[in-house]
Amino acid sequence: MVESPGYVTLEIEGRKVKLPVVVGSEGEKAIDIGNLRRETGYVTLDPSFMNTAACYSQITFVDGEKGILRYRGIPIEELVQKTMFVEVAYLLVHGELPNEEERRNFSRLLNRNSLLHEDMRHFFDHFPQGAHPMHILSTMINALAAFYPNVDLKSMADDIDLSCARLISIVRTMAAFAYKKSIGEPVVYPRHDLSYCANFLNMMFDSPVSPYQIRPEAVRILNILFILHADHEQNCSTTAVRSIGSAQVNLYATISAGISALSGPLHGGANQAVIEMLRMIQADGDVKKFINMAKDRTNPFRLMGFGHRVYKTYDPRAAIIKKECNAYLERIHYKDPLLDVAREVEEIALTDPYFIERHLYPNVDFYTGILYRALGIPENMFTVMFALARLPGWIAHWKEMIGGATKIVRPRQIYIGKTLADTMEAMAVREVLTQN
Ligand code: CMC
Repeated sequence: MVESPGYVTLEIEGRKVKLPVVVGSEGEKAIDIGNLRRETGYVTLDPSFMNTAACYSQITFVDGEKGILRYRGIPIEELVQKTMFVEVAYLLVHGELPNEEERRNFSRLLNRNSLLHEDMRHFFDHFPQGAHPMHILSTMINALAAFYPNVDLKSMADDIDLSCARLISIVRTMAAFAYKKSIGEPVVYPRHDLSYCANFLNMMFDSPVSPYQIRPEAVRILNILFILHADHEQNCSTTAVRSIGSAQVNLYATISAGISALSGPLHGGANQAVIEMLRMIQADGDVKKFINMAKDRTNPFRLMGFGHRVYKTYDPRAAIIKKECNAYLERIHYKDPLLDVAREVEEIALTDPYFIERHLYPNVDFYTGILYRALGIPENMFTVMFALARLPGWIAHWKEMIGGATKIVRPRQIYIGKTLADTMEAMAVREVLTQN
């Protein structure tokens, strides 16, 4: 719960202003500046929100100094051991893990909503060959509003289970269809007898000439990856979802915006960029050269999958993924030379003063792509996998935002452009010149 233990006093132009201090349930402290402009005429300036808490939230807790991540109070380490992705989705959206009946009802809803409207299926035929699946996905999700009724805010929020199940289920179908289309194979429809992750793998890899053998171990790994990506509090795409949703846009359009934000290489697109980087390093053979390039401030090259705005220690998701990656590859006797490159990059970086001083560690994206490769997922689908997994988080934040007293997100700015005096002067000069 939020406590208000007092005030801080700010002195502005000789005047003392009292600003309330708020403390979150895990002890995070903030100064509430909501009335600052009204009382003093000043705003705060914080480009890229380096130091701004944009909202109160009960969904996810991250301690970037200690490397802690909890969904609704439950550590991710426990969730990956004891739960399935669908249960975590329910947890994020509703605040509690489902009981047996709730789980069954939610699974039934997921199944009932797993088919894509047949007319939407034809959309896939008209994207150019080679279009990135993330671009296809954001477009298709936006189009959902045209195919499914009751997209007004109240209907969607009132029946949050249906909105949530439809998105989580249909987007999985869309993602697998997009892949099948891209390789020129017939699409595979979802099956009611399969779990969420098994269904996805089947839709991706089953074919009329070669039935897909569902391996429980592959399903387990996908489940872990999806749980670890399910939410991460106010990251860039969730902030996009909350900002755009605050204009009372329908949930589909809002999620589509989240997907667009996620596609960037500094955010979810990093999982694909890591593999591209590792392949480049492997081809060159000189790991140190790339480490030096990343350290060179005149060179735009960065170590993809390294660094994080919040984590100043090892990303707890990366720690789990690294462990699972090593174990899974060993168990299936799959040797990926890019794993050796990744290990070497990590080893050198973690002992280099540049990375140590800046607290740069592997993040969630560093080992993820290697696991996806081992599951047979193509590289251009990596960020789509991230998007599928992040859906429950976006929906939970949308629900929390709509349910609260959120006003439209509308920051201020400090204008540094031309003044009226500047332009009047220029106009006067121009007038004189034209007259002559
Ligand atoms: N390689 C080399 N130097 C780096 C890196 C990196 N990956 N990340 C940060 N730095 C340096 C940066 O140059 C700066 O140095 P200096 O203090 O000398 O100017 C310092 O570390 C602080 O970096 P920053 O850019 O101010 O940090 P940020 O919080 O604005 O950016 C980040 C965070 C994740 C965008 C950044 O670390 C980065 O670009 N990493 C690579 C891309 C990546 O892996 N993204 C996935 C993020 S985690 C999953 C997700 O969000 O989807």
